[in-house]
Amino acid sequence: MKRIAVLTSGGDAPGMNAAIRAAVRTGVSLGVEMFGVRHGYTGLIAGDFLPLGPREVGGIIERGGTMLGSSRCPAFLTEKGQAAAVRQLSQRDIGGLVVIGGNGSQSGGHALSLRGVSVAGVASTIDNDLAGSDVTLGATTALDIALEAIDRLRVTASAHGRVFLVEVMGRACGYLALMAGITGGAEAIVIPESEESPEAVATAIREAYQRGKSHAIVIVAEGAKHDADALSRYFTEHAERLGFELRVTKLGHVQRGGAPRVFDRLSATLLGAAAVEHLDAGRHGVLLGIVAGNVTATSLSDAIRAVKPLNAHLIQLAHVLSR
Ligand code: ADP
Ligand code: F6P
Repeated sequence: MKRIAVLTSGGDAPGMNAAIRAAVRTGVSLGVEMFGVRHGYTGLIAGDFLPLGPREVGGIIERGGTMLGSSRCPAFLTEKGQAAAVRQLSQRDIGGLVVIGGNGSQSGGHALSLRGVSVAGVASTIDNDLAGSDVTLGATTALDIALEAIDRLRVTASAHGRVFLVEVMGRACGYLALMAGITGGAEAIVIPESEESPEAVATAIREAYQRGKSHAIVIVAEGAKHDADALSRYFTEHAERLGFELRVTKLGHVQRGGAPRVFDRLSATLLGAAAVEHLDAGRHGVLLGIVAGNVTATSLSDAIRAVKPLNAHLIQLAHVLSR
């Protein structure tokens, strides 16, 4: 393959830059001319390409975000948008596309591969809701950031004997909340995969105080039916009966913008390189991820259709450890 382009799409994730760097340098080493596409599918439709060589991707491995920019692009969901994207690639004689992004972005990659484009995806989203990789790029760095915040909140919660609700991201997936809750020592975890009523959460907090705890941390997934707003409303309405003081922190985009930690840098490097190697060898229509410690290619159609369940044992363990 003579020419390959790389794009980043959807929510940015720490590690995307490391994946771009590895893809470009691997491509150049194989004699491929490499291009970046600015702002994901928006730039692909508009023909916003830039040539990338080894120097253009220097000094980015340690940076969060994406040097190429990202976007959510409704126009790409249409026939017209996808046809325009294919045209932009073929006009430049670009034979392969590396798509670095989450489930939506890989669905876009699959749509392109059905239109004859050779696509290799790199599983990348802080939400870890994409099959084909045990842990997607960015998720562990986002967790480290959430943990730093939770550790600090625990200090002040303890000083005042308060309850802190901490809402973490994750879209409809409770992975970030579950893992942050387990590793942050939460007294209760609220996730969409195992919904609890507000009263059950209140009971868990009351029992924590009765067992002698001086404070409580509740980690809430943004996708839970009873998210931080809903729980806060309930606890405020019933404040007198429940008898504890509550503070709410939504970590929001803070979790997304950090510098990638070692696991994300290394995984991104392995996956970015593997994506270009696959395209160069004529293996396409695949998503590159890490499964059981190994770089693994899963067909894009399987990856985007599969549901990635949370580990039921960890959900159970979280209950045991919160006591
Ligand atoms: P992520 O990749 O992080 O899951 P999104 O779900 O926002 O983020 O998807 C990113 C972009 O991918 C969307 O804005 C859209 O352009 C494209 N996309 C999402 N779903 C599809 C789909 N089913 N078919 C084609 N393109 C899609
Ligand atoms: O998919 C990554 C993510 O950060 C989700 O956790 C969150 O729900 C969403 O993106 C936020 O999207 P935006 O940055 O478009 O507000």
